[in-house]
Amino acid sequence: KKQNNIRNFSIIAHIDHGKSTLADRLIEKTGLLTSREMQEQVLDSMDLERERGITIKLKNVRLTYKAKDGEEYILNLIDTPGHVDFNYEVSRSLAACEGALLVVDATQGIEAQTLANVYLALEQDLEIVPIINKIDLPSARPDEVKKELKEVIGIDAEDAPLVSAKEGLNIEQVLEEIIKKIPAPKGDVNAPLKALIFDSYYDSYKGVVCYIRVFEGCIKPGMEIKMMSSNKTYEVTEVGITTSKQIAVDKLEAGEVGYVLASIKNVKDARVGDTITDKNNPTEIPLPGYKKVVPMVYCGIYPAEGEDFNSLRDALEKLQVNDASLVFEPENSAALGFGFRCGFLGLLHMEIVQERLEREFDLNIVTTAPSVIYRIKKKDGEILSIQNPTNIPEESEIEYMEEPIVSASIMTPADYVGTVMELCQNRRGVFKNMEYLEENRVILYYDMPLNEVIYDFFDALKSRTKGFASLDYELKGYQQSDLVKLDILINGELVDALSIIVHKDKAYERGRTIAERLKEEIPRHQFAIPIQAAVGSKIIARETVKALRKDVLAKCYGGDVTRKKKLLEKQKEGKKRMRQIGAVEIPQEAFLAVLKYD
Ligand code: GTP
Repeated sequence: KKQNNIRNFSIIAHIDHGKSTLADRLIEKTGLLTSREMQEQVLDSMDLERERGITIKLKNVRLTYKAKDGEEYILNLIDTPGHVDFNYEVSRSLAACEGALLVVDATQGIEAQTLANVYLALEQDLEIVPIINKIDLPSARPDEVKKELKEVIGIDAEDAPLVSAKEGLNIEQVLEEIIKKIPAPKGDVNAPLKALIFDSYYDSYKGVVCYIRVFEGCIKPGMEIKMMSSNKTYEVTEVGITTSKQIAVDKLEAGEVGYVLASIKNVKDARVGDTITDKNNPTEIPLPGYKKVVPMVYCGIYPAEGEDFNSLRDALEKLQVNDASLVFEPENSAALGFGFRCGFLGLLHMEIVQERLEREFDLNIVTTAPSVIYRIKKKDGEILSIQNPTNIPEESEIEYMEEPIVSASIMTPADYVGTVMELCQNRRGVFKNMEYLEENRVILYYDMPLNEVIYDFFDALKSRTKGFASLDYELKGYQQSDLVKLDILINGELVDALSIIVHKDKAYERGRTIAERLKEEIPRHQFAIPIQAAVGSKIIARETVKALRKDVLAKCYGGDVTRKKKLLEKQKEGKKRMRQIGAVEIPQEAFLAVLKYD
């Protein structure tokens, strides 16, 4: 039977443990691409992605492998993104598989994301096949890592392949493990269609391409299909598989992985996690686990001085066609004019979108400080969801405020436990638990306000532990909290784009830091500029940018015209990145001053 010779699997790993490199080797070893072709065609293809070294969009590829038992197998490798922002996408691509290769760096051992990914895989009942990578490195300690896998995760790694993905060592052993350990798919080919969308993207020629795993039944061109979450229907125009390129096939059957085209215009209509069924012979229950992902972090994005609002909107619309988790709506700031409030899965997602706007669309933008979604119960009983600090009602109208809390797990060498705990405490973390993984490795569990995590917590954690600590977190729920809005006044004017929400006990400290930073960022003018931080009508910190003593042109003595011109030109250059607020020019960087914590 065909299904017996299929294996559907993912590779899971902590960032940088070698997932993509191993995927490349598997592709090479099965002869799909030569190493020369590989250089152009690697699994993760977005430029930005490669630079950041993070797999953002999932892809899949079908490999054929002639095993030692003489049989030919179809191996569907489904790639997963490697960052907590994209955990839902990871869970959906794992749901498309029967097993997962767990790649662990032999020099690092288990890290926070290793564990988080293993839990995701176990939730999907996947067979986990441990692979120990980077054994070419002198500091590799495979035996310790095996022990760790046994003790921490309970996986027997005694016979785990010891590989070097970089040097292509023992890759065949990995392929044999896949055949031996990962179960073949099951599923009734004659049942009504049930297929999982585990990824979708927009292609300007083909429209939306859905990557699917068929669990029951069969899908082929001409069929009318229905998306079970939205009940929208489409006619299938093509189904196919991805090898070194997309190849159309007659049909995809239970157990198979491939792509579907059906004249879908927007990725929003082909949501990751949705179930596709046959419109005329629908399955009764959709596959479990569908979740519409909701943004966790919001920020304002505004065109920089002189930039066009409409081009920004066009750019955001184009990005959204391909990114169902990006949301935006127009908003208006007194300081920055017309712009958009944008929602993201997390900070990395936010940074990626900002970078794409600047690079791919060549836009100059100003972004305001990120904010989480607060819940406010007003005294009149109304409940508000607020993602822009500016929209918070008067203090007198508020009964209470709630903020999102995450459960965070931080893995760190034991030497840094003290520093990490201090940092977490500083960020209003509530200590939950601590576990020793081995003599020198500890995992700390904290409940922490998301608000504190989004302000450079990760950077602070990394710098305090020399890069050794790793972090994972997930949303736990909402909690009542004593929060206030911190406003910034520049030259007596409230700059709404600089307002943030902070815990009452932190307001003074944050206000002072922000005022100090702004003082550094704002250039001197002809007049003195007071910078004030305020909570309500109470000023809690004040700094002053001193007035310029002399005119820049004064030193030219009015004589040297070219010099004067150059100076003026230089000033103009500098001006491009400024925002005029009242009588004061504020550089773009200043809007990020509120981001930095310590
Ligand atoms: P993300 O895509 O960011 O999740 O990372 P990844 O897990 O896919 O890691 P990637 O394959 O990009 O490898 C990370 C780094 O480790 C790269 O610089 C690789 O060259 C290196 N690397 C991967 N495998 C090996 C190996 O077997 N030996 C050595 N020495 N380096 C390796």
